[in-house]
Amino acid sequence: MAKGKHAHNRTQGKKWSTFSLFLWTLFFLTLILVVLLAFGIVYLPTTEDDFPAVDLAAFRRKTSQSGESMMEKTEQWTEILSWEPRAFIYHNFLSKEECEYLIELAKPYMVKSSVVDSKTGKSTESRVRTSSGMFLKRGGDKVVQDIEKRIADFTFIPVENGEGLQILHYEVGQKYEPHYDYFIDEFNTKNGGQRIATVLMYLSDVEEGGETVFPAANANFSSVPWWNDLSQCARKGLSVKPKMGDALLFWSMRPDATLDPSSLHGGCPVIKGNKWSSTKWMHLHEYKV
Ligand SMILES: *[C@@H]1O[C@H](CO)[C@@H](O)[C@H](O)[C@H]1NC(C)=O
Repeated sequence: MAKGKHAHNRTQGKKWSTFSLFLWTLFFLTLILVVLLAFGIVYLPTTEDDFPAVDLAAFRRKTSQSGESMMEKTEQWTEILSWEPRAFIYHNFLSKEECEYLIELAKPYMVKSSVVDSKTGKSTESRVRTSSGMFLKRGGDKVVQDIEKRIADFTFIPVENGEGLQILHYEVGQKYEPHYDYFIDEFNTKNGGQRIATVLMYLSDVEEGGETVFPAANANFSSVPWWNDLSQCARKGLSVKPKMGDALLFWSMRPDATLDPSSLHGGCPVIKGNKWSSTKWMHLHEYKV
């Protein structure tokens, strides 16, 4: 009986020493690990390794590759022009080939530009807008579809909310007086609701003049790096010089869906050369074509 009890105690003691050996081993291993970590010899896996910091350069490369067919490899980047109005320049948005393609596509159909009558919705000829232009069918061909997809990506507004691309041509002396792209009448908002944003793409360089000007912008007009190259007209506001392939995005509505009067904008007269541009108007809802 006593013997049996003794034996029992012995096995328990042995069990205990195995357990404490295990604990001591664990303790020393932990100590070694802490020392290694402290000296930076090993690293613990962190979430940062799983989700590397957002690499904007990589994103830029990706966006420049997404254009596929007619995109040549030119660097693309966005620049904040102003917050009042909300306006951004996307450099090299279109390739040279795309610009030339759009011009050739539109050339045979160019007619003198008109403005939309706010009472009847009919187009009327006007002295405030002296360019010529035409509309391309939305999704008309592969190149147009590519560009429209890119505009949707840039604006976060679906392709379906856009009007067809308008192609415009301004010769020397031709201009578009400052105006709003939004409507203040019922008629013109029936299809798609209010216009919320405009993407203006420059299809050509212009030797002199032809700038896009925001006369009501809340900004220091002369602080733009290209100030010295601007025409007199362009110095009356915050201005962008046309450059082939660049796109200018500006919003006619604020984020709270109120109209933004600082989006007033115009096209300065061309002084030297030719100006080709393309406009995409984006609406609040689907725009039926
Ligand atoms: C506007 O910008 C110009 C050029 O950067 C600077 O010389 C001028 O002082 C600025 N004016 C104001 C009112 O901030």
